[in-house]
Amino acid sequence: MPVTQPLGRSDVLVPRLGVGAMTWGEAHGLARLHPAKIAYGGAEGLDEERAAWQVSIAAGVTLFDTAAMYAGGASERRLGELSSDAALIATKFPATLRAGADDMPGQLADSLARLRRDHVDLYQHHFPSRRVDIPRLMDLMADAVAAGRVRAVGVSNYSADQMRQAHAALARRGIPLASNQVQYSLLHRRPETNGVLDTCRELGVTLIAYQPLASGALTGTYTRANRPRGLRRYRKPFDRRGLAALEPVTALLREIGERHGRTPAQVALRWLIENDTILPIPGAKNRKQAMANAEALTFHLTQDEIDTLEVATRAWR
Ligand SMILES: NC(=O)c1ccc[n+]([C@@H]2O[C@H](COP(=O)([O-])OP(=O)(O)OC[C@H]3O[C@@H](n4cnc5c(N)ncnc54)[C@H](OP(=O)(O)O)[C@@H]3O)[C@@H](O)[C@H]2O)c1
Repeated sequence: MPVTQPLGRSDVLVPRLGVGAMTWGEAHGLARLHPAKIAYGGAEGLDEERAAWQVSIAAGVTLFDTAAMYAGGASERRLGELSSDAALIATKFPATLRAGADDMPGQLADSLARLRRDHVDLYQHHFPSRRVDIPRLMDLMADAVAAGRVRAVGVSNYSADQMRQAHAALARRGIPLASNQVQYSLLHRRPETNGVLDTCRELGVTLIAYQPLASGALTGTYTRANRPRGLRRYRKPFDRRGLAALEPVTALLREIGERHGRTPAQVALRWLIENDTILPIPGAKNRKQAMANAEALTFHLTQDEIDTLEVATRAWR
């Protein structure tokens, strides 16, 4: 079984890789227009999601990331239907953009009902907002930990300063800030330059890397001749200039992958995993992708390969 390590300085033991379930579940009504569904075209239905869930757990990839906001709760509902004692669930507050900190306890109860659980392993504040006072929210998070409804507290899309505020508020209650979930990949290296990665190291916080495959750009699937469908094609790096700039990167990923018998996607994930502070959560739409992603746990890059990839993607810092 793959190694586990504590999430930040919390008691929750996690694998070095998780699964992003943002596109899972059947959305109804307006929730069908959720940005992720429009951008990615959704996952591939219950059977494939169940298979992705099962092969991930069998490979030791037991951490699943969702959010109250994903497709109006459909992603959480799907994880609730799948259910396994082995699975660790990370979800996020809030369910709506209008929510304030004091809405958290009620929305946590709603998430737990959709997830069919009495606790979540990691509860994250999805994004900072003027409506949500960070110390107040962290105090309510600490209450949820004390009540046994939450095992570890995390944040998402927080700057270094916001992390420090959350960390200090939780520390007053004797609780560590376990994680900050931010966009991080070879094609989005801002956490290295905006202080977030350094602050994670300093405070002992795990950086959960979302979009670790740059929404699929690092898999080598997409080229100027084969752009993705859905809204994704209009966003960086899938515009024509972005895909042209990407070509040498995917060629390098492929070359390194061939040395290890691995795919470009596995090398891109491995580059993140080689850093102990980072835990990537690639989205998988089906069994095949989930299996392939889990295999990122089963090899190592050499220091020279890690450095070569670092140099080749400096323009994305
Ligand atoms: N906190 C936040 O604000 C936030 C924001 C965004 C995402 N997230 C989280 O991060 C997770 C992952 O992000 P993401 O799904 O947006 O981006 P991603 O993980 O970078 O890319 C996922 C996409 O890459 C393709 N893919 C995945 N595995 C593959 C494989 N082995 N081989 C080939 N293609 C593969 C699939 O798309 P195709 O097959 O269509 O190419 C898949 O939908 C989400 O599920 C969510 O949990 C959090």
